[in-house]
Amino acid sequence: MMARDDIGTLISKTETWILPELESVFDKAVLDDITVKAASYSLFAGGKRLRPLMMHLTSRMLGLNDELDSDVKYFAATLEMIHTYSLIHDDLPAMDNDDLRRGKPTCHKVYGEGIATLAGDLLLNSAMERLFRICESKPGYIYAASALAANAGINGMIGGQSIDIASSDRKIPVELLTELQEKKTGALIEAAVVTPYYISKSMTRSESASDETAISLRKLASHIGLAFQIRDDILDVISDSTILGKSTGKDERDSKATFVTLLGLDGAKERLDEELKSIRDILAGFAKQGFDTSDYETLAGYLGDRDR
Ligand code: IPE
Ligand code: IPE
Ligand code: MG
Ligand code: MG
Ligand code: MG
Repeated sequence: MMARDDIGTLISKTETWILPELESVFDKAVLDDITVKAASYSLFAGGKRLRPLMMHLTSRMLGLNDELDSDVKYFAATLEMIHTYSLIHDDLPAMDNDDLRRGKPTCHKVYGEGIATLAGDLLLNSAMERLFRICESKPGYIYAASALAANAGINGMIGGQSIDIASSDRKIPVELLTELQEKKTGALIEAAVVTPYYISKSMTRSESASDETAISLRKLASHIGLAFQIRDDILDVISDSTILGKSTGKDERDSKATFVTLLGLDGAKERLDEELKSIRDILAGFAKQGFDTSDYETLAGYLGDRDR
C-alpha cells in the first residue's frame, strides 16, 4: 500500500496543481496595470490554498477523470480569487484594519486603500467572468457556477461578513454566531467541497437539492467550515503572528463575536472537537460506500491542530 500523504505534502501538491492556472488568470496585456499588480501581490502572497485543496480532495475521493479534474482546477483557481478578494477587503481599515496577511504587509499597506479596494473588486469580477466563460463551452456547469457565486453573496460569505460587522461590540447568541461563521467562512468552503461533484454530474439546482451525495458533501463542508473558523478564532488568541502570518489578539481588540469571545478558550475547543467528530462520522459514511476518504481524514486531523 502506498504511504498516505501528510498535510504538508497535500498542500505542496495542491500548490503545484493550481499555480499555472492562477498564473494565467490575467492577460499578459494588463500585467503592468497597478490594480492587476496589487491583485497579483495578494494572490501569490503565500496563501495555504486550502479551498483548492478541498476541491482536489473531493475530485480524488470521487475518482473524477483527468478532463473533469482540469475543469475542477479552473473552478478552484476561480474560488481562490474570490477568497483572496474577501481577505483584501477584510483587511481594509474600514473592516478589520490589519497590517499583516500571509506573512506580508496587507494589500492596502503596499498599494494604498483605493487600489486595494479595486484589486478586490477586480478579483471578484474576473472570477465571475471566468464562470461565465466556462459555461459558454460547457452549459452543464451553469448550476455549479451560479451556486459558487451565491455562496460568495449575501446568503454566503458577504452575508457572514455583514453579521460579523453588525455583531462587533455586542454579545450575540451562539446560534447567530454559528450562522455568522457558517456564512463568512463555511460558504466558500462548501463551494470548495461540493463543486467538483456538481461539475462531474452537470448537476441542476433541483437535482442538487435531493441528491444524497450532494447533501452529504454539504454536511461535511458545513462541519469543516465551522471547525476551520473555530480554530481561526482560537489561533487569534494562542498563536504568534510570525507563525500565523497575520496579527493576533485582534478579535478581542475589536470586540468581535467569536467562539472564543463567546464560549471561552475551553468552550471553543470543546465545540471544535464536536465538529471534528461530525466530520469523521460523515467520512465514515463515505468510506462505507467505497470512497477513499484517507486524504480527507488527513485534512480533519490538520483542522484540529493547525498552527497557521
Ligand atoms: C483566512 O483563511 C480567513 C478565514 C476564513 C478564517 P485561510 O486561513 O484559508 O487564509 P489563507 O488563504 O491561507 O491566507
Ligand atoms: C474573515 O474572517 C473571513 C472572510 C470572509 C474574509 P476573519 O476576519 O476572522 O479572518 P482573518 O482572521 O482576518 O483571517
Ligand atoms: Mg473579519
Ligand atoms: Mg480579519
Ligand atoms: Mg480571524
